[in-house]
Amino acid sequence: MRVLITGATGFIGSHLVEELHRKGYQIRCLVRKSSNLEWIKHLPIEYVHCDYSDLASLQKAVANVDYVYHTAGVTKAKTKAGYFSGNYTATKNLLQTVLSSKKDLKRFIHISSQAAVGPSLNGEPVNETTPFHPITSYGVSKMEAEKECLRLMDQLPITIVRPPAVYGPRDRDIYAFFNTMNKGLQPMIGFGNTYVSLIHVKDLVDGIILAGENDQAIGQTYFISSEKHYNWKELGEITACILHKKVIRIQIPISVIFLIAAISEFSSLFSNKPALLNIEKARDITRDYWTCSIEKSKRELGFRESLTIEEGIRITLDWYREHNWLK
Ligand SMILES: NC(=O)c1ccc[n+]([C@@H]2O[C@H](COP(=O)([O-])OP(=O)(O)OC[C@H]3O[C@@H](n4cnc5c(N)ncnc54)[C@H](OP(=O)(O)O)[C@@H]3O)[C@@H](O)[C@H]2O)c1
Repeated sequence: MRVLITGATGFIGSHLVEELHRKGYQIRCLVRKSSNLEWIKHLPIEYVHCDYSDLASLQKAVANVDYVYHTAGVTKAKTKAGYFSGNYTATKNLLQTVLSSKKDLKRFIHISSQAAVGPSLNGEPVNETTPFHPITSYGVSKMEAEKECLRLMDQLPITIVRPPAVYGPRDRDIYAFFNTMNKGLQPMIGFGNTYVSLIHVKDLVDGIILAGENDQAIGQTYFISSEKHYNWKELGEITACILHKKVIRIQIPISVIFLIAAISEFSSLFSNKPALLNIEKARDITRDYWTCSIEKSKRELGFRESLTIEEGIRITLDWYREHNWLK
């Protein structure tokens, strides 16, 4: 079986490539000229260099594949247009290319995000029936990409997978939390009573492949996530224990988060990199509940996490240590 993987050079995509290779799939990766192949260059992979706006080059990538795992996406951009071109337009062009080039594709697996749906509004975890209510440009662009998938559900065998926050080796986002904890500090937003769904990348990849290989998943959307919801105090305690560190908690009032975000967003106008914290990101991280339910993926796919949160964090910290990422 030949699979095309987009976003293969990224955090989630590179783990997906490794697992699909281990399972015996023939791997083709869609990469760009600027792609950094660091995590996947040791594997026997066919590379197709593409530009997502060039439909002819996309034709070469999708030719004769049985599965498409569309992992590519923009999680940080300076502008709304950056999110839209990387998340919505790239997905739309890829879907159109698949549609025009191969009718007997076994599956197109689209990696979306909980951000497409939005946070839980009343503390009740969101699920697959919750109406879209994204609160950031990133979320809106992921929602629009999902809508493009939904529009073509009767013409292509599509499955949408929505991860919540993902952590694990190679991640550079939640890494900031682990690195700060390693310095003996835990910044807490407000009173620290925010809850998140959080999944280790190994379990996410297993869930993505489970959805890709299950015929019942055609035309369906699934949250693949942790069963439990965690608050940052609890995650801090587990991390401190594994690191053997005494950690000082610093409570940062929400108003201060927004002030820092405004300053950081203004400063980023003079840089070509997106701000690490901006007003939208502040709106995102100050929500009380980013939680989702996995009842549907448990029931229909038999999805279960294999790692406890302690095991997942330990594996992640070991990897950061081995790679000298903990400063
Ligand atoms: N990480 C999370 O916590 C999380 C949570 C929920 C959903 N997701 C979704 O999971 C997917 C992968 O996320 P990730 O964390 O692995 O991200 P990542 O490490 O930043 O990797 C992103 C991948 O997408 C490609 N890409 C970036 N910008 C692109 C653009 N403008 N056009 C085409 N390809 C582009 C990159 O390829 P190059 O090497 O060519 O730059 C890279 O391979 C995304 O769709 C994201 O929305 C992630």
